[in-house]
Amino acid sequence: MRCFRDEACLDLLDRQTFKFQHQLMDHPALSLQNLANVLPALPADSVMSSKGLLSNGDDFEDVMCGNTGSRFAIEAVIENIRTSDSYIMVNGPEAHPSFQPLYRELIADVEQIMKRRGLGNAAISPKLYLFIASPNSVTPFHIDRYSGFLMQFRGSKHVSIFPQWDERVVSSQNKEAYVANKNTRLPWDHNMNELGKTFEFHPGEALHIPFSAGHHVRNGSEDVSISMSIFFSTDQSHAWRQALRFNHAARPVLRRLGLKPAAVGRAQWRDSAKSGAWTAIRKLKSLRGS
Ligand SMILES: [Fe+2]
Repeated sequence: MRCFRDEACLDLLDRQTFKFQHQLMDHPALSLQNLANVLPALPADSVMSSKGLLSNGDDFEDVMCGNTGSRFAIEAVIENIRTSDSYIMVNGPEAHPSFQPLYRELIADVEQIMKRRGLGNAAISPKLYLFIASPNSVTPFHIDRYSGFLMQFRGSKHVSIFPQWDERVVSSQNKEAYVANKNTRLPWDHNMNELGKTFEFHPGEALHIPFSAGHHVRNGSEDVSISMSIFFSTDQSHAWRQALRFNHAARPVLRRLGLKPAAVGRAQWRDSAKSGAWTAIRKLKSLRGS
């Protein structure tokens, strides 16, 4: 592998979280100098920023999407990020030519891991996200609608990751609404930390966050943090996402009959059937123009 160190834990993809080593330290695409060139060159709506420290319980997506900032402000934030309590999230840095080789090599590694697990040959919709954040900044509790690997390049973090299908962490109903983009505020209680696993995360390390596993992040106090994720879907996580959307649509209908949909993530045959049904419903709707 070019980007990840080949370790046995990689075979736990989308079964549980694990920490391992990446091999991308000192990659030229990720130098501050290159990032200062890349960020202003990307489409303005792919660079999102927040001012001020967030805390757990904040609506992460709302905060990040509601404040795009100006190009000038973002350049200034890079210069001053150590003391500015700010957070930059770059959606799709691979749009810049300097990120293209890295993007292709990461996809090749992900697909090798997928094949070994029998989860398909091609990563579906692979996407990079870059995170540049001041010391002590917090990424509030949330879930991702994809499978992912997070890589640390500078500074340290505490990353807490929770079991992906544990109803005590995120109920089925809340997860379905989140994945369907209908409600991105997940209930958070500090006591839930007992249910998760907290990793100390340092430069050179990578973490796997399974599809839809809840997580929150706190940066260390000593340095600016630079990290990057690759998000993707496997055949399985694509089916999970579709099945969650199916359940979200079916839940109010079933409620009238005193029923509720079977939870996703328990039976692959059922999730695949729901995924197929959801695809068919979407096609029918688009044919009808609704
Ligand atoms: Fe995340």
